[in-house]
Amino acid sequence: MAIVGAGPAGLLLGQLLAREGIDTVILEARSREHVEGRIRAGVLEQGTIDVLREAGVGERMDREGLVHGGIYLCFDGARHHIPMSELTGGRAVMIYGQTEVVKDLVAARLAMDAPLRFECAEVSLDGLNRDEPVLRYTYQGEPHELTCDLVAGCDGFHGVCRTCIPDDVLGVWQRDYPFAWLGILAQVAPSTDELIYAHSERGFALHSMRSPTISRLYIQVGTEEKIGDWPDERIWDELHARLASEDWELTEGPVLEKSITPMRSFVAEPMRFRSLLLAGDAAHIVPPTGAKGLNLAVADVTVLARALVDRLQSGSETGLREYSDRCLGRVWRAQHFSWWMTTMLHTDPDGDAYGLALQRSQLEYVASSRAAATSLAENYVGLPLERTGASHAGGPWLS
Ligand code: FAD
Ligand code: DHB
Repeated sequence: MAIVGAGPAGLLLGQLLAREGIDTVILEARSREHVEGRIRAGVLEQGTIDVLREAGVGERMDREGLVHGGIYLCFDGARHHIPMSELTGGRAVMIYGQTEVVKDLVAARLAMDAPLRFECAEVSLDGLNRDEPVLRYTYQGEPHELTCDLVAGCDGFHGVCRTCIPDDVLGVWQRDYPFAWLGILAQVAPSTDELIYAHSERGFALHSMRSPTISRLYIQVGTEEKIGDWPDERIWDELHARLASEDWELTEGPVLEKSITPMRSFVAEPMRFRSLLLAGDAAHIVPPTGAKGLNLAVADVTVLARALVDRLQSGSETGLREYSDRCLGRVWRAQHFSWWMTTMLHTDPDGDAYGLALQRSQLEYVASSRAAATSLAENYVGLPLERTGASHAGGPWLS
């Protein structure tokens, strides 16, 4: 089996399969330094934590990760606590950077001496229609050809695998948002014990963290804005204004990194075409407000690894046949949650006073109703990997 892409999806799939004695080759377009240094997600759901432990890469995460049992919603200058663990029977999230997850997975793969080829150029996939997939690529200046049984397309939103599925087979659903996120990593102790998601008329802001000494903060900016428009002082001024609440101070520190990310919702269906299986951002994207992207990637490859192990051990094709449907139920739940969090918390540049009043009403409802807060909490900590009951597509999420 070949895996295209060494992001969290590709690396974890390789790791889960290796532990079951299944060999894979991973091809990655970028360098190891680039892949390990790409600052992105920071929130791991309970199910993701469990899978990383099961995959044998949870040791450093358990030592260094920060367990959070709640979040704050901030609006109209007041902070409201959502006690997620209390509302979900003890489930929690872990703050542990995607960079660290990727470093742990790369180290585990290299320790096993399993093939992981960085800086592959001109990766292309052919022969899908004949069920004889062939990957062609250039590695260390030499052209290579890899004939395989199955290909896992874990090459992210801009990868090549999805583009190999014929247009008349692939359905696409998408929405672009009229704003983006500017994120900074700052060398300063977090000014909060749990994440703060803030709604204000100036736009959304988020106070997150990476460790007891490193803070991660985001602000909503316009889609056309450039990083050069945002000197550090301007970012801190906005963060102070948007996160402001009574008796609370935001502490500033040196900015180590800053970048702008567009916001998009996207789903491609089906996630399988013949011997190609898409997983993670290659198949779906969510706006980051619900912290779901990395967790969805982990859920996909966990379902995929189980299906592949089943096929090898019992010869059953059921898991692979049902792979797309099994993933998509969860994917659409995360799509809705991410869209809902995004529209509740961001300021629509084309919005009106009526829209703002609806947002305030929704925020007040979530902050004051146990039922509404529970709905947010169970989606945020993550629903179980697969639905319970007879039908995976229509069964309940929780028994
Ligand atoms: P990727 O991480 O994109 O990996 C794909 C890999 O494929 C890359 O290494 C790429 O170089 C490689 N590749 C691409 N093309 C080719 C090719 N042709 N050949 C070979 N290799 C190729 N998610 C959360 O769950 N929680 C969060 O808190 C969160 N916060 C986020 C904050 C920000 C600012 C951003 C940008 C994202 C956030 N996400 C979050 C989303 C999360 O980072 C992604 O969903 C996650 O990286 C998906 O993993 P992946 O392996 O599917 O794709
Ligand atoms: C982080 C990113 C998110 O998208 C989010 O919702 C919470 C935290 C982070 O990078 O820490």
